[in-house]
Amino acid sequence: MCGIFGYVTTNEVELGPILIEAAKRLTYRGYDSVGAATLNNGRIDLRKDVGKVDIVAAKYNISEMRGQRGITQLRWATFGEPSQINAQPHIDSDGDMVGAHNGNVVNNVELREQFIAEGMTVRSQNDGETCVHAVERYINRGYEFIDAIRLAYGDLEGDYAFVIGRANDDKLYAFKKGSGMVVGLGAGFTCVSSDLPSILPLTREVIRPQDGEIVTLWADKVEVRSVKDGKQIQRMPETVTESMDAVQKGGYPHFMLKEIHEQSQVARELSHVLNGNREVDGLVEKLKNARHLYFIGCGTSYHAASVGAVYFAQLAGKPVIPVLAPQFIPQYAPAVSYEDVGIFVSQSGETKDVLNALETAEARGMACFGLANVVGSTLTKSASLCLPLCCGYEISVPATKTFTNQVVTFLYLAYKMANKDVRELDRIPELMEQTIEMVEPQIKEIAKDINEWNDMYCLGYGATYAIALEGALKLKEITYAHCEGMLSTEFKHGPLSAVSRGFPIIFVAGPNDVPLIISGINEVKVRGARTIVVAEEDARLRANADDVIVLPKSDPQISALLGVLPLQLLSYHMSVMRGFDPDFPRNLSKTLTVD
Ligand code: M6R
Repeated sequence: MCGIFGYVTTNEVELGPILIEAAKRLTYRGYDSVGAATLNNGRIDLRKDVGKVDIVAAKYNISEMRGQRGITQLRWATFGEPSQINAQPHIDSDGDMVGAHNGNVVNNVELREQFIAEGMTVRSQNDGETCVHAVERYINRGYEFIDAIRLAYGDLEGDYAFVIGRANDDKLYAFKKGSGMVVGLGAGFTCVSSDLPSILPLTREVIRPQDGEIVTLWADKVEVRSVKDGKQIQRMPETVTESMDAVQKGGYPHFMLKEIHEQSQVARELSHVLNGNREVDGLVEKLKNARHLYFIGCGTSYHAASVGAVYFAQLAGKPVIPVLAPQFIPQYAPAVSYEDVGIFVSQSGETKDVLNALETAEARGMACFGLANVVGSTLTKSASLCLPLCCGYEISVPATKTFTNQVVTFLYLAYKMANKDVRELDRIPELMEQTIEMVEPQIKEIAKDINEWNDMYCLGYGATYAIALEGALKLKEITYAHCEGMLSTEFKHGPLSAVSRGFPIIFVAGPNDVPLIISGINEVKVRGARTIVVAEEDARLRANADDVIVLPKSDPQISALLGVLPLQLLSYHMSVMRGFDPDFPRNLSKTLTVD
């Protein structure tokens, strides 16, 4: 989500092409706006706008920009709508310095108010600008530049990376908190970026700064200092030997596995953004007052909507109708009115089935809101308010991190509806990390055991029902096996006859549903099924099931969310064992813009 790149060389050169190429290498992170700034002999040249790199670069002649230092940034809107003023980089009040960030500064709103009260010129809503003023504040108080940066670091809360330079200088400065950042050292230049892939075509000599460190970049050297005491820290550059492809996948063999492992990080970013979003309370009021509430989506997004519907009922006592988008039109649209509210859910924000339903609902006067990952997509523009999922680019066709952030958003809204303390949700990212760590070795073994089967079931109940549907969809999508997701109690009403010796049946059990799931387990076990349960540790389940995949202890709602992680991993490992490419399953595409 967002990307920054800074470049320092000895003399004034044509920096535009270097910045454009670097920006292009960052596009995979997702963006809606692009900007570039060059610094030279006391002068800052800043050009930026909403749009694709090529279009903004052509419109503003970025390739002709010259300077001794340059910064480019790709923005994925969170604080402030996609607009030229909110695009990055940003200058300080007097235009003496310029900076850009990626990530989120969670106390953005409070800091902006302070800066305005202190007399600074704040031009945008964007938290990248806040980073610049955070340094300006201490310059105004008489501090040296490096000390002003150290103090700004303390004021800026959140997960982000930031690069800044002064017009009258020959250096750039950078630091990070939570987010990634890499520094490159080449012949006659240094650079800094949000990630390694954007640096590798320029140099393979890199330094990876840590949180709490400030990097100063000259054309021929970099210096790392501690934020705490300002003392210099020795850091030897390392030489990167991996291929570009491996680096883009962050060391994982596939994007899907990388995205599965990114889920805790994007959940953390999402909660910062939701906490800082002042529109959430207004949305919650509208949801509370709705006559009927519909959550609408397709595929994985529909499953997230269905989990969300259970959360709303369980936590806030608010019934919700989860609907597959195309079915909304014949079944519900004839009955909806302006008193009803819909939340349209989509990773891409471009799924035609979802947009058709939205158009029909709007024509009937229904209030339409959205949850989308791709900012600037049609859904984000068409819905009255669209909350961003904050996942960055999801490259792999099977949706993973966008599903979990959709579910987290619904859980957050349900907490707000129920006046529960949303800080309780801060433990989710850590629980996700624990889950993946705890289950992955066992999942690989189970994948080997059941890999010969081309038929299986995935069963859940309550909040885990739609988790089972999602697990079954993932298994179908990338292993090409038939896996049916079903309510566990429905199994006896027909599918039970399919069970034969060794037939794999996966149960996802919420902590309150163990006795019911045990009945289901025994029903199929006595007929020869291989029973695999995803659940919190429970002696009763251990005594009945063949395999128990243990989730960390939490509560019924969070446990359901965690339950999807082993299913994602199982489908991934089975797909790879079968020799398929899980990132690009046959016959499918990431965005479905057809009826
Ligand atoms: O972009 P959307 O969330 O609207 O896409 C909806 C479905 O096409 C999508 O979730 C699909 O089911 C996934 N590839 C499943 O992993």
